[in-house]
Amino acid sequence: MGAELTDLDFIRRVRGICGQKNVLTGTADLEFFGSDRTRLATPAPLAVAFPGTTEQVVDLVRLAASAGRSVVPSGGRTGLSGGAMALRGELVIAMDRMNTIKAFDAINQSVVCQAGVVTAQLQAYARDRGLFYPVDFAASGSSQIGGNIATNAGGIRVIRYGMTRQWVSGVKLVTGGGDVLDLNRGLTKNNTGYDLRHLVVGSEGTLGIVVEATMQLTTSPPPSSVVCLALAKLDAVMEVSRAFKASSSLSAFEFFSEAAMKAVVASGETRPFDTIAPFYVLLELDADTESRVDAAFNCFERCVREAWVMDGVISQSGEQAARLWRLREGISEALAPLQPYKNDLSVTPSQVPVFLAEVEEVCRSHYPDFSLVWYGHIGDGNLHLNVLKPEQLTAAAFHERCNEANEKIYQIVQSLGGSVSAEHGVGLLKRGALARTSTPPELAILRHIKSAFDPSGIMNPGKIMPTIPDS
Ligand code: MLT
Ligand code: ZN
Repeated sequence: MGAELTDLDFIRRVRGICGQKNVLTGTADLEFFGSDRTRLATPAPLAVAFPGTTEQVVDLVRLAASAGRSVVPSGGRTGLSGGAMALRGELVIAMDRMNTIKAFDAINQSVVCQAGVVTAQLQAYARDRGLFYPVDFAASGSSQIGGNIATNAGGIRVIRYGMTRQWVSGVKLVTGGGDVLDLNRGLTKNNTGYDLRHLVVGSEGTLGIVVEATMQLTTSPPPSSVVCLALAKLDAVMEVSRAFKASSSLSAFEFFSEAAMKAVVASGETRPFDTIAPFYVLLELDADTESRVDAAFNCFERCVREAWVMDGVISQSGEQAARLWRLREGISEALAPLQPYKNDLSVTPSQVPVFLAEVEEVCRSHYPDFSLVWYGHIGDGNLHLNVLKPEQLTAAAFHERCNEANEKIYQIVQSLGGSVSAEHGVGLLKRGALARTSTPPELAILRHIKSAFDPSGIMNPGKIMPTIPDS
């Protein structure tokens, strides 16, 4: 480790690397760039640097390592697990200036983009070339590709297209040791032992900083229809899923409860029909031929006849499809002002009804004052359980009770072989839960991997695992 630097000397050296105007230290900037959407605690980084090149990122990381300072990588900061929170004097490295799509290869159907490229920018770039970048979610207008890779972002079309991991054919990483790794280089076939690229995907900035990636694109999807259905009971979800999977080609299968519907309607959206039901599902299916459209209608009618479905609507225009999508995609924003306690759980899709019934039962008997808002990507077995704070509880007391409830909920997750974080990542929020679904040998291997990439332990400390003591 080099000579100790005072805060001021360190910031001066950071400015020397990135340029005076590309380093911020004002209180509002530190708060803004030092947090994500979890608003877990008050952020308190030392400075925010905006490098313009990979070389500058290398220099920043090497400087931080030699000065024993921690680094928190920052993308669009749309995360929900505290993975981008900077709480104790870290250097935040924000990738906003590295936002260029550098190359397009029509034969490989791939693009090379810098980490700060916004998801919607990549989607539009693909569309302009008659192609499609399929990973999509409500935050795609601000989330960045580097952050999507670091968190292996999922979203609404995972049942057809998978998570971000599936679309990363190359990744350039500046490790915590300041080395530049150019992993997989866009290759389709590369069977040379451990695939380090896949270790980087989902590593939440704990191994290094993603500076560039080769992202695969695909052919544009066929025209689609969106179907929103009201269900009388949860078990019907499985029947509806089976019926539509057999008759249609699905690109999304989402779910939300009446409590979620109420919240999104209160935020300005319109109910799709008069029927009030405990649960709703939203499906997107290919509607490119008359026979596919007929099959969707026939399936809908069958679901009504079987009494699985109480009511429903099939979109007749792009505008109506977008409106139906907003009922699902608007839920998170609609709930945000209520500061819900967020869980992001998964089991295999067929276990969803059992899982949800068991969690409801635990909450009903031990926490009758909790209101539960269920929604999520039910086709992937991924449920976002949001708990609303009872009025009489302080925020601190509410959190304490949620943590206590989690013990019981995680036991259910564990008994079904599920996951405590389906798509939001571990960050700060779920690190205590990791031991529920990862064995001690697995956790020991994670620690070894972390120290191989980040020997000084400076990269996003405390995220995923508390690799540096909290105090
Ligand atoms: C969603 O599915 O809406 C997102 O993951 C955000 C959330 O869970 O609130
Ligand atoms: Zn989600």
